[in-house]
Amino acid sequence: MSVHEMHLKAINAYNTAYAKYSKFKVGASVLCSEKVFSGCNIENASYGATVCAERVAIWKAISEMGPNSKIEKLCLVTKDGDVPCGLCLQVMSEFMSPETEIIICTEHEVKQVKVFKDFMPYTFVL
Ligand code: THU
Repeated sequence: MSVHEMHLKAINAYNTAYAKYSKFKVGASVLCSEKVFSGCNIENASYGATVCAERVAIWKAISEMGPNSKIEKLCLVTKDGDVPCGLCLQVMSEFMSPETEIIICTEHEVKQVKVFKDFMPYTFVL
């Protein structure tokens, strides 16, 4: 799955974001067992029940492909090409390896291609 295809899927998700309160739209796509799953942020009036785009995409992938599946690539789209939040990084650490590619994009371009350990060199594990 090319970076371009992952980017297109994340852009589609970005365009479906339910960002009623923050107006900050986020789209994500993840590669898992040769399939791509996408997710957008979905906010809630309670605020606390809001879910980030990365986690929506990861939940979709793991619930479809099973608990032993791994996320092999993640692409993120925001207006300015922002990085994943700490909570999502903690979730990502459970399902990806330190070398998993993280592609940071705007709607128009790929801004950075990093690997998971660039964002989180040390992870909490049980
Ligand atoms: N958000 C994400 O979807 N991913 C992140 O990594 C950071 C934040 C969402 C949550 C909320 O809907 C909005 O962006 C503002 O925080």
